[in-house]
Amino acid sequence: MMNETWIRRLRPEDLDAVAALNTTTFKGPEEAAIIRRLHADNDTLLSLVVHHHDEIVGHIEFFRILIDGRPSAVGLGPMCVLPEVQGQGIGSALVRMGLVVMAGRGESIVFVLGHPDFYGELGFSAEAARPFTAPWSGPAFMARIINDGAPASGELTYPAAFG
Ligand SMILES: CC(C)(COP(=O)(O)OP(=O)(O)OC[C@H]1O[C@@H](n2cnc3c(N)ncnc32)[C@H](O)[C@@H]1OP(=O)(O)O)[C@@H](O)C(=O)NCCC(=O)NCCS
Repeated sequence: MMNETWIRRLRPEDLDAVAALNTTTFKGPEEAAIIRRLHADNDTLLSLVVHHHDEIVGHIEFFRILIDGRPSAVGLGPMCVLPEVQGQGIGSALVRMGLVVMAGRGESIVFVLGHPDFYGELGFSAEAARPFTAPWSGPAFMARIINDGAPASGELTYPAAFG
């Protein structure tokens, strides 16, 4: 029997559905615009979607962050899960799968700006992000080390999509 829900890589033809999903879930167009710009600029490292039957109900982006000008970090986001299917483990599964892929590619540190409870459960902490200079700070700005050799501090540069 076929699985009802599965994760796969985003294909270019999914972008409209992914933009619509983000606009619905975030109740506004900001994240959809960031995603379109990330893809237009070729600034994504990994994009995953969650299928439930014929519908895309979840999505996550990973992108390059520079530390002191070097391509030595990864950013996570935007990500979202359709409100009707939130709280079923789909979001956590997306993050976990993405982190496995990033670790397999030799990436060492991943940054995120998001819900401390959700990302804390997934091994992220504000403490790990604190030594880094970024356009944001505070409890929502978190990092997780996924391999040895991660930079210990430095200034982060985000892709143009994040303004
Ligand atoms: C955040 C989000 C991606 C989580 O996806 P999900 O599929 O609901 O997540 P999971 O089912 O894997 O949830 C795992 C845990 O995170 C917690 N959690 C989920 N959403 C949360 C939220 N919005 N705030 C705080 N904690 C949250 C839950 O407590 C859950 O734990 P539980 O299962 O023990 O109750 C989803 O709720 C979402 O799209 N929210 C709106 C968009 C958004 O805020 N995206 C940005 C994330 S930075």
